[in-house]
Amino acid sequence: MSSSLATTPTAASLDAFLARQEQIGLLRFLTCGSVDDGKSTLIGRLLYDTKLIFDDHLAALKRDSARHGTAGEHIDFALLVDGLEAEREQGITIDVAYRFFTTDKRRFIVADTPGHEQYTRNMATGASNAELAVVLVDARQGVLTQTRRHSFIAALLGIRHVVLAVNKIDLVAFSQARFDEIRDEYARAVAGLGFRSLTAIPISARFGDNVIARSANTPWYAGPSLLEHLETVDVEGEASVHPFRMAVQWVNRPNLDFRGYAGTVAAGTVRPGDRVTVAASGRSSTVARIVTMDGDLDRAGAGSAVTLTLAEQIDISRGDVLAAPGAPVPVADKFEAHLVWLSEHALFPGRNYVFKVGTRSTSGSITRIRHRIDVNTYEQVAADRLGINDVAVVGVSLSAPMAMERFADNRELGGFIVIDRLTNATVGVGMVDAVTPGSTNVVWHDMAIDKEARAELKGQRPAALWFTGLSGAGKSTIANLVDRRLHAMGRHTYILDGDNVRHGLNRDLGFSEADRVENIRRAAEAARLMVDAGLIVIVSFISPYRSDRDAARERFEAGEFMEVFIDTPVDECRRRDPKGLYARADAGQIRNFTGVSAPYEAPLAPELRLATTEAEAEVLADRVIEELRHRGMIA
Ligand code: ADX
Repeated sequence: MSSSLATTPTAASLDAFLARQEQIGLLRFLTCGSVDDGKSTLIGRLLYDTKLIFDDHLAALKRDSARHGTAGEHIDFALLVDGLEAEREQGITIDVAYRFFTTDKRRFIVADTPGHEQYTRNMATGASNAELAVVLVDARQGVLTQTRRHSFIAALLGIRHVVLAVNKIDLVAFSQARFDEIRDEYARAVAGLGFRSLTAIPISARFGDNVIARSANTPWYAGPSLLEHLETVDVEGEASVHPFRMAVQWVNRPNLDFRGYAGTVAAGTVRPGDRVTVAASGRSSTVARIVTMDGDLDRAGAGSAVTLTLAEQIDISRGDVLAAPGAPVPVADKFEAHLVWLSEHALFPGRNYVFKVGTRSTSGSITRIRHRIDVNTYEQVAADRLGINDVAVVGVSLSAPMAMERFADNRELGGFIVIDRLTNATVGVGMVDAVTPGSTNVVWHDMAIDKEARAELKGQRPAALWFTGLSGAGKSTIANLVDRRLHAMGRHTYILDGDNVRHGLNRDLGFSEADRVENIRRAAEAARLMVDAGLIVIVSFISPYRSDRDAARERFEAGEFMEVFIDTPVDECRRRDPKGLYARADAGQIRNFTGVSAPYEAPLAPELRLATTEAEAEVLADRVIEELRHRGMIA
């Protein structure tokens, strides 16, 4: 197998080389397997045998293999890949998680996803634009839980072609029976996953059997070697016939004469003269030019990074999606999706996260977990939360409509990530299954009499005072005193108290984390309706989770919401114990009791902190009134 890089670089042959490189296809694939399955060794072997390891690198490799390797006098290919890994950790090379190699027939990009604890996350990232997955199993071990999980995630991420590489076949004496057994078991395991091609190959990554060339050690195997298969497998599918879509990454306006929309074509093709429609507004224009660094193009297809200029100027901003007019992109704020949860911290329905679809982000929540999927049996299991690596079908609701498509139709506009609001960490990856029809038709009903009119009649500015603190901290006591003062001043008020609301609206909820998320979500919604009615509402809930309080805050306009932290140390609450609950919690009679067996996350920057051990409740209530005056919330 010769590498194309061996071509003599005369001008003419270089041109021919580049032309051929343009024409020969590109295959993106990833390898899946656990740490010991030989992933690194296989990638090293592919790179080595296609001669893309530089000589000095090779000398170092031979030296290191002799010194540290686990392969005797043979070259330990895992060292090669692991060495590149170390480089990446030192930040020397960008993106070496993607490795490139080429043969006469194809160019390859292999996403090498490190197989550590965060494997699922890495794999989800690496798989997001791959066409094929090489699933490695150790011939001695056979199909494992991880094998099923990785295959499932690959299918979820839109991969339709799989190679089952039965590695270390030398360690089972090149046994055909063992190979057949694993191949059949795997075929059964992935039967429902919708793969279009599944090719099982017996290999030894370490010794090279059936990796590049067919091996004499497996005379019973009549199929292609791994590289032969990778060079010839047809993964075209129908990607090229999809209608045109491009998300605008930025608006390029270097001067008054030029206005271009830069982005990467997500699907389909575009030519000058084509009509394009903006998904959100429905306005259309005509493509005037396709501008690139290397000059204008007369055609751009999926994957090309281009700047479009338009004949007629229409309103377009960053994040807008341009599409072929005959095939508009749905714009919706509700959808159904498959979700892979990646965080140690469980997902609870109703909790607020940031959702990034294409190039645009907005806040939103999982409204419902329809079911979790057991990746071993593919069974549907009921769930009220998702733990790390869980896969589920969920309903999502966003705070603003976004352009999106089914993942099956468009990976870019159908894939999304979920980001934790506080840590900014990616906590989930998802695939849109279906945009909820008519979801954008449920609009907020603009009432003839609005909040301002209602507030004016009451002669006040509506507001939400959110009291948070431990049970027994003094929330209700101070809330009552504040309420009486406001009432005496002629204000229209209401108190939403956790204990009371739990008797009615929230009577179906307990004290698990999931239930508390929902408890606070409903309290915040109820408070928002009251503010909309022009009231000053005092919300008095333990509300122990920061992210839920922050989500509550988001539901209000600026200056409408005031977080009041009733700060009483747990020992003081325990000493007071007005309802005798701490005694019972300490005795183990109440589960998930805040401050005892469930967490309380104190506010980091409340508008007001009231330390009940430093002043009387009356004094603290006065301080709330003062603060309201100071902020202009009351006159
Ligand atoms: S929250 O955590 O979901 O915000 P909420 O304010 O509605 O709690 O209700 C708290 C009240 O429920 C407490 O004042 C206490 O009287 C009662 N309670 C019963 N069980 C628990 C528990 N496990 N943890 C905290 N409060 C509890």
